[in-house]
Amino acid sequence: MNTKRFHVTDAADPRLQEAGAILRRGGLVAIPTETVYGLAANALDETAVKAIFAAKGRPVDNPLIVHIANRAQWSALVKTIPPEAERLAAAFWPGPLTIILKKSEKIPAVVSGGLDTVAVRMPSHIIARAIITEAGVPLAAPSANLSGKPSPTNADRVQEDLDGKIDLIIDAGDCSVGVESTVVSLAGKTPRLLRPGGVTPAMLEDVLGKIEIDPAVFDRLAEGETAASPGMKYKHYAPRAKVILLKGTAAQYRAFLQAHKDENAVALCFAEEAEASPLPAICYGSAENSLSQASRIFEALRQVDESGAEIAYAHFPPAEGLGLAVFNRLVRAAAFRILEL
Ligand code: TXA
Ligand code: MG
Repeated sequence: MNTKRFHVTDAADPRLQEAGAILRRGGLVAIPTETVYGLAANALDETAVKAIFAAKGRPVDNPLIVHIANRAQWSALVKTIPPEAERLAAAFWPGPLTIILKKSEKIPAVVSGGLDTVAVRMPSHIIARAIITEAGVPLAAPSANLSGKPSPTNADRVQEDLDGKIDLIIDAGDCSVGVESTVVSLAGKTPRLLRPGGVTPAMLEDVLGKIEIDPAVFDRLAEGETAASPGMKYKHYAPRAKVILLKGTAAQYRAFLQAHKDENAVALCFAEEAEASPLPAICYGSAENSLSQASRIFEALRQVDESGAEIAYAHFPPAEGLGLAVFNRLVRAAAFRILEL
């Protein structure tokens, strides 16, 4: 298949009509969102959704997020919308928040991975919204990477993974948030954070009161444990290189790198640490700025592999607020290898 690519900056660009038409007839289109690029198909078309799993090599029990452009689409996809969900949507939509509720009959089983729930999000990216509107249907869209690879935050990375496997890539430049949406489930008794993202736990608690944080946010699942969010159980965001997270001060980190400077390794560090780094440095944002770390982390992980290094020594990020999302992705890339300095 020949994969087309359009560079689009204007939501009124007529080529977005072509994107809509491809989606309506069951094709696959990579779309920009404020979090990461998504690989979209008509969420109500079982065959189209199956093609997403095939293109990504994604395990079929890992459910997809359905993207909407307006409130009416939401009501059709879920059984009921409880007041807490209304409040979350009012506070954070459009934006990087995914809300899980009991699904309606309209959602094909392939979308929900056989669960009785569905994850829905209304993105804020104007091009994403224009594409959903052009398509006229809700769009199932996982991150537009090959399964297991870091999520793409620009169109070049999408093309690297999916060229020849999908119909179209809409290139709208870099994603602003850089990590995937916050996933919160309102399908159980208590609101539960399943995946940290751009909307922080404190922001959620401002609206909902106390929430539970799924243990899989911090830790590897024990053998045989069932994941609340199936995506959490897979090795994720992993570069080919072995990533090790180092917890300590800037001075301790530099001393460690110095002791390992003869290895085929890179430092996955903060911008402030690059110049004095004994190993070649790949930066992921600024030490005090979780926002900049989030927007850089996935691209930095891909650069680690391009460097040819066998090991990446990553400096542990501050895991508070948005930093919790950065930590969550990095600790998976590191397969939970953490070294206290
Ligand atoms: O920011 C994002 O959410 C991006 C962009 C493209 O919108 N999408 C994204 O999709 O990250 P994906 O498929 O890479 O991640 C979806 C996550 C997975 O961990 C999946 O297991 C979980 O959401 N998920 C989806 N539906 C679920 C459900 N019904 N119950 C529990 N977890 C669910
Ligand atoms: Mg993903």
